[in-house]
Amino acid sequence: MGGGIAAYKSCELLRRFQASGHDVTVIPTKSSLEFIGSSTWEALSGKPVTTEVFDSVHEVPHVKLGQEADLFVIAPATANLIAKLAHGLADDLLTNSVLMAQCPILVVPAMHTEMWLNPATQANVQTLRDRGIRVVDPDVGRLTGPDSGPGRLPEPQAIEIAAQVLVDGYLPDLDLHGKRVLVTGGGTRESIDPVRDIGNRSSGKQAWAIASAASVYGAKTTVIAANVELPSPVGSTVINVKSALEMADAVDEQLGEADVLVMCAAVADFRPKAPADVKIKKTSDDFVPAPIELERNPDILAAVGARPEADRPLLVGFAAETVTDEAQLIEYGLGKLTKKGADFLVANPVGKDQTFGEDSNSGLVLGPEGIVDRVEKTSKAGLANALFAACREKLSS
Ligand code: C5P
Repeated sequence: MGGGIAAYKSCELLRRFQASGHDVTVIPTKSSLEFIGSSTWEALSGKPVTTEVFDSVHEVPHVKLGQEADLFVIAPATANLIAKLAHGLADDLLTNSVLMAQCPILVVPAMHTEMWLNPATQANVQTLRDRGIRVVDPDVGRLTGPDSGPGRLPEPQAIEIAAQVLVDGYLPDLDLHGKRVLVTGGGTRESIDPVRDIGNRSSGKQAWAIASAASVYGAKTTVIAANVELPSPVGSTVINVKSALEMADAVDEQLGEADVLVMCAAVADFRPKAPADVKIKKTSDDFVPAPIELERNPDILAAVGARPEADRPLLVGFAAETVTDEAQLIEYGLGKLTKKGADFLVANPVGKDQTFGEDSNSGLVLGPEGIVDRVEKTSKAGLANALFAACREKLSS
């Protein structure tokens, strides 16, 4: 990690990587130790930590680290560190190891807005991206001191998901620069009264993984999120909505710009016809509530799918199904794909401990002709990669 105040967030990132079973080596720059000292890193990682190439020379550490790593995550990456990486400078253990790296590299910048927007930094970022290094845009928000703007380090959970994209089914040649990806996620809530809703258990994790993947591959990404309690996915703009009607409006507003719409949200098919303006109360001990009359919500995916192909983005739907076997999953999935006019549809089995709220997923990526990909249990980032692998040809045409 580089020497930015956001280095403190990398302690949690390290913990998160460890918790998911990864072997993590910390390579700080000298200036990052001004913020988080080497004792912290040694205690947390359980390994010696150094900034120097000339420690343990007999082990040639930069060569070993560079050759053995499955992934380099540089977070936070300062303007200075990005400049050094762009120019191939190697004057400490981190920059030497990165030059040796044979694995994917994720760079997560964090700095003041002016430094991020400086043409020198932007040119260096472009150089790294042109070389296949994945540089995500920083978050927009509170910076050191009272300022706010682009330059904030994404939250550790968001960086972790982005890192998974570079590990589980990573697509090294995919480049989505210049593309706009619109993703919906979470579960809509339909008001019964001012304090009660009808909802579902969708966590938004799959949508977050898709948005993270889109951003890692360079797309401009917008997520329309229904009741998701996760930190913003890297490089993405998040629009929060509550109900299906609000989501339909937000999709309508954003659609014109999009090259792909991934409808990952669990949208309620029905809503209470006449939600109460005031809280429904038990007025007596033998109070019997009136039945809640429901009416249909619009089908957002089907409405977009009904447009002429030239007048809509590439369209990906999701179908969560409780099924007894794969044949049934294909039957239900293809039925939905055709009915809703989607180009692709991810059909996943749901049920007890499957999919909703979990960190893993599995399923079938279906196209009009049938199975495009059979995705065995993987992280939600792994499934996001399978989805973009299926879309890539149509996206580049
Ligand atoms: O019909 P079902 O709800 O199983 O279809 C799932 C797919 O349709 C998902 O992609 C979901 O986001 C989308 N959908 C929608 N509007 C609805 C219901 C579902 O866009 N009202």
